[in-house]
Amino acid sequence: MILKTLRTYFNSELLGYYPDTEISSFFHILSEHILKLNQINIALNLYQVVSGKKYDKFQTAIDRLKVYQPIQYILGQTEFYGLKFKVNDSVLIPRPETEELVDWIIKASISKDKIRILDIGTGSGCIAISLAKHLPNAKVLALDISSKALKVAQENAKQNDVDVEFMHKNILSIPNYFLDSQDRFDIIVSNPPYVRQSEKTEMKPNVLENEPHIALFVDDDDALQFYKAIVQLSVNNLNKNGMLFFEINEYLGNEMIKLLQKFEFENIDLKQDLFGKDRMIKATKKA
Ligand SMILES: C[S@@+](CC[C@H](N)C(=O)[O-])C[C@H]1O[C@@H](n2cnc3c(N)ncnc32)[C@H](O)[C@@H]1O
Repeated sequence: MILKTLRTYFNSELLGYYPDTEISSFFHILSEHILKLNQINIALNLYQVVSGKKYDKFQTAIDRLKVYQPIQYILGQTEFYGLKFKVNDSVLIPRPETEELVDWIIKASISKDKIRILDIGTGSGCIAISLAKHLPNAKVLALDISSKALKVAQENAKQNDVDVEFMHKNILSIPNYFLDSQDRFDIIVSNPPYVRQSEKTEMKPNVLENEPHIALFVDDDDALQFYKAIVQLSVNNLNKNGMLFFEINEYLGNEMIKLLQKFEFENIDLKQDLFGKDRMIKATKKA
């Protein structure tokens, strides 16, 4: 089949599943990925024959898009903070809001030398790896409860040529794990599960049906469960003046401020994301 016919076929197969602009964007993304043709080159190569494995990849993508699988899982990769990350259904797809959190941490620590950073609930490793890449003086450690996620994170660290120490740990059962004072951290960061079960109705079906629930959901009656565990861990494991950075549930900014005050953190700064929602918070441990 020639590219021009493939494009018509692709559009007609997905008609009614997505808006036209999104279908056209999927076609461009897949053409770039499978045929290495950017938008201009598609127009210049409309009579190129697409057959065999390359055609099969388009057909598989159409089938997966019809059941609303995210394009990032179909490609097996995504971009985060200018870096390429492998993703599959064992890891959350990194979000643009999380890039803002990474940017905040880099700006707050770029001038410091020799810092130790811990990323809790690392998933694809997007936070830990981006920090390691942009903060060459940092020693970065990261943990997750999911061994499948850690495997992806390890591959991502290798692909991006950074050294991150990954650990298979449950944050809810390791409050004293890092107690050796020489090994304290200067920064602890986490984007833990924070969506309440009652908020499921606000979520798009492609997220609900495809992304790992262990990465997303918490019980309504203990929505800050992960934050409480991490704040408590930070009291013992952050250096004086060390910083805690969290991505948070947009509805729980005030509760987060109270939690950090309760544990005597200072300089608490709640920040909105690019959509104007309370999305991240930073606090400093008392000197
Ligand atoms: C919201 S995802 C964040 C993933 C990644 N850091 C990001 O920002 O895209 C939360 C992560 O926490 C991990 N997680 C869930 N429960 C955990 C636990 N009890 N201990 C450690 N990690 C946990 C999940 O496997 C998931 O990778």
